[in-house]
Amino acid sequence: MVKHKDQFKCTACDGLSPKWQGQCPHCGEWNTLEAFEEVVTSSKRVKAAGTPPSFYSLSNPNEPSRYASGIEEFDRVVGGGLMEGSIVLLGGDPGIGKSTLALQLCKEYVEKNIKVCYFSGEESVGQLALRAKRLGFDNDALKISNEIELSKMLAGLESEKPQVAVIDSIQTAYSPNSDSLPGSPNQVRECASELMTLGKTKNITIILIGHITKSGVIAGPKLLEHIVDTVLYLEGDKQHYFRILRSVKNRFGATHEIGIFEMKQEGLTGIANPGDMFLNERKKGATGSVVTCGMEGSRPLLVEIQALAARAAYGTPQRHASGIDQKRLQLLLAVIERQLDIPISQYDIFVNVVGGMTLKEPAMDLPVIAAIYSSVKNIPVKENTVIIGEVGLTGETRSVMRLEQRVKEAQRMGFDRLILPLSAKKKVDDKENTFKYIKDITELTET
Ligand SMILES: Nc1ncnc2c1ncn2[C@@H]1O[C@H](COP(=O)(O)OP(=O)(O)OP(=O)(O)O)[C@@H](O)[C@H]1O
Ligand SMILES: [Mg+2]
Repeated sequence: MVKHKDQFKCTACDGLSPKWQGQCPHCGEWNTLEAFEEVVTSSKRVKAAGTPPSFYSLSNPNEPSRYASGIEEFDRVVGGGLMEGSIVLLGGDPGIGKSTLALQLCKEYVEKNIKVCYFSGEESVGQLALRAKRLGFDNDALKISNEIELSKMLAGLESEKPQVAVIDSIQTAYSPNSDSLPGSPNQVRECASELMTLGKTKNITIILIGHITKSGVIAGPKLLEHIVDTVLYLEGDKQHYFRILRSVKNRFGATHEIGIFEMKQEGLTGIANPGDMFLNERKKGATGSVVTCGMEGSRPLLVEIQALAARAAYGTPQRHASGIDQKRLQLLLAVIERQLDIPISQYDIFVNVVGGMTLKEPAMDLPVIAAIYSSVKNIPVKENTVIIGEVGLTGETRSVMRLEQRVKEAQRMGFDRLILPLSAKKKVDDKENTFKYIKDITELTET
């Protein structure tokens, strides 16, 4: 039995739509939807055809190994090294250092006798060599190619049989099977899935470099994220020289781990002690400055939060948050106004997390309130103080996750005076009795 069903199909991406539209809902191309008849065969015939797949038992598979690069910050983010035969997406803004990081990985791998191919569709071999020279990389074992055509790249991988391949970038890869331009969602999807198939069958670890588009997503938006095994983003602002490598998806390890690097002449250098980096330019004894301890993945990080309260000149006071959530700031201001009896609407309030870090966790409530209070009242926070805690709408303080770890990090960095929620008292080890516990924010004024 054969059924017919009316649908519309996009000539550019083969995506289906139940109704006609001017723009394809899948790839965004215009005027590409055409009516077609889908032939649905009956379930009986499907059952009759086809051979059964092979089944395996769990005790059977050969366990893949990992390629540890020796770049500690990188290996930790991916869970101990890239998995053999896995496919990794390395995304980031233009110029952030993706190619630099990839080339540094190549250097480490090649030195460990791991065979690597580098497809550089964006830069000439000469440019790449120049960068390699800057990174102190002069090993001829790295195979470099400027090929961007997919079939040739696949053939190259089949003949070279590398263990790791870098595609820089997936947006320049091009397959003639698809009519659209390189970098379009269709091309990106086609190239990525072909490369993945080859990688999985030939056991090649493939690193796809992808640019983030203006709207903040990698071209071929979420479509690559679900195909690949691991998604890494390199971020940070270009004015500061540090870069954060973040894992947002990892089939072979924990996510939300970060690696912190500094961009130097000789490439991205891991920073083992990031606390120093965020705090070393801090002006001690300044009003509105509070040190707190945030968590990035499993890692505690000491950062400085600054607040500035200035008398508002015009009707509506300004509120500006950078590094913390704007809405959370509004809420905390309302709590301050009500619970601490401060006419906060008379002030313009600016809050900034120093060093371009973003802290979006409840543990930042208490330090933000303390910083604003310090600025409004012009009272500096005592030296060697770290403040951590969540604040509720009635001004009560609450404990936060991984408190012990944060406290340890603060002590390790030489901060011995901690201001914590009262409920945290039992959890922490205060040997020298220098911690202060507060039940609600009104007690902040006494510390
Ligand atoms: N001599 C140098 N010393 C320090 N940093 C440098 C030096 N040369 C380049 N850089 C840094 O390297 C960055 C470029 O890195 P890279 O080309 O790896 O970025 P990318 O993410 O691959 O960029 P694209 O999107 O253009 O491919 C520059 O923005 C600059 O910050
Ligand atoms: Mg590049």
